[in-house]
Amino acid sequence: MSSEGNVEERKKLFEEIFKDREPFHWRTSISYKTVNKIVAKGYDTTELVEKGYGFMDVLFLIFQGRLPKPNEAKMLDYLLGAFCEHAISPSAAAARIVASGRPLINAAFAAGIMTFGMAHGPGWSHAEIMTEYLNRAEKEGKTLKEMAEILVKEHLEAKKPIMGIHQPQHVHGDPRAYAVIRKAFELGVAGKYVQFQLEIIKALEKAKGKRMHPNMVGAGVSVLLDLGFSPLAAWCIGVLARGFSCAAHAVEEMERERAWRGSFKTKMADLMSLEVQDPRISYDGPPDRPVPEKYIKCPSCGASELLPEFKACPYCGQKLK
Ligand SMILES: CC(C)(COP(=O)(O)OP(=O)(O)OC[C@H]1O[C@@H](n2cnc3c(N)ncnc32)[C@H](O)[C@@H]1OP(=O)(O)O)[C@@H](O)C(=O)NCCC(=O)NCCS
Repeated sequence: MSSEGNVEERKKLFEEIFKDREPFHWRTSISYKTVNKIVAKGYDTTELVEKGYGFMDVLFLIFQGRLPKPNEAKMLDYLLGAFCEHAISPSAAAARIVASGRPLINAAFAAGIMTFGMAHGPGWSHAEIMTEYLNRAEKEGKTLKEMAEILVKEHLEAKKPIMGIHQPQHVHGDPRAYAVIRKAFELGVAGKYVQFQLEIIKALEKAKGKRMHPNMVGAGVSVLLDLGFSPLAAWCIGVLARGFSCAAHAVEEMERERAWRGSFKTKMADLMSLEVQDPRISYDGPPDRPVPEKYIKCPSCGASELLPEFKACPYCGQKLK
């Protein structure tokens, strides 16, 4: 059979197998655009901003398909404003270090965003855990207080940190966290997630005999969930809000600091300076030692690159050991 015949046969077979399948096309319920407009969830986005809607409203629209009530948009604005900046933290530090190598700046703030996970801004795992235990409470007919005690007990027994609790620097509690929770009550948006978060704090205090405080993930993500965002959406919104801070740190790094951060000319010891990596303090590997010879030379014919384990020279037969 000729190769052309093969192609024809394969084409027919494909047509037969995929006859009920549509050709590829993008599929999204979020938005569409034409030559003249961009429409998100049915609303012309230019008309939205013309009518006074802003960024917070659009976040509700694209993640939840609805425009928020004014108190909900106010809450989101308050929350993201509080969450956006947190000085030198793993994310800002990562953005700065990457920026010091002078890549395109988006690589620097992307690096900052990439630090978010299980210890720094763990919004997704917090949201998932809250949702999982709240679902369990409903299924097992437990109150929020009872389920919070179960969550704490299970985490302490497994020696796992409880997401959303504690910030190692703000030893009296992250000043933003209680403010966010207070605001949620004031604006009437605090629901079962915020209530559950507060029960977790109480249950933890009872179990440990000392008060531990919610951090911005505990407070902020609980509020985002009460505002109707899904766990993944809450995670993305928190991470991207902090992304602005990473970008600001990267911009400052590029505009104000020396590239590489290792110059001898700066007034202050810099990040990569030799004095901050003084081997007497910062090195605890093996002591300096002579580099072993990798090859030996034949004393008779002069052939080099002979392996030290050779007993005789492979070229002239000279005994080597
Ligand atoms: C952020 C985090 C890694 C800091 O932990 P850390 O460096 O051990 O903090 P500290 O040294 O101040 O911890 C003090 C004590 O509290 C305990 N602890 C800290 N966070 C805890 C948590 N989330 N749940 C239970 N216990 C916790 C520590 O184990 C330590 O206990 P010990 O005194 O018995 O050793 C930790 O709090 C954590 O994993 N939190 C949950 C994740 C989170 O929400 N991160 C967002 C931070 S903004």
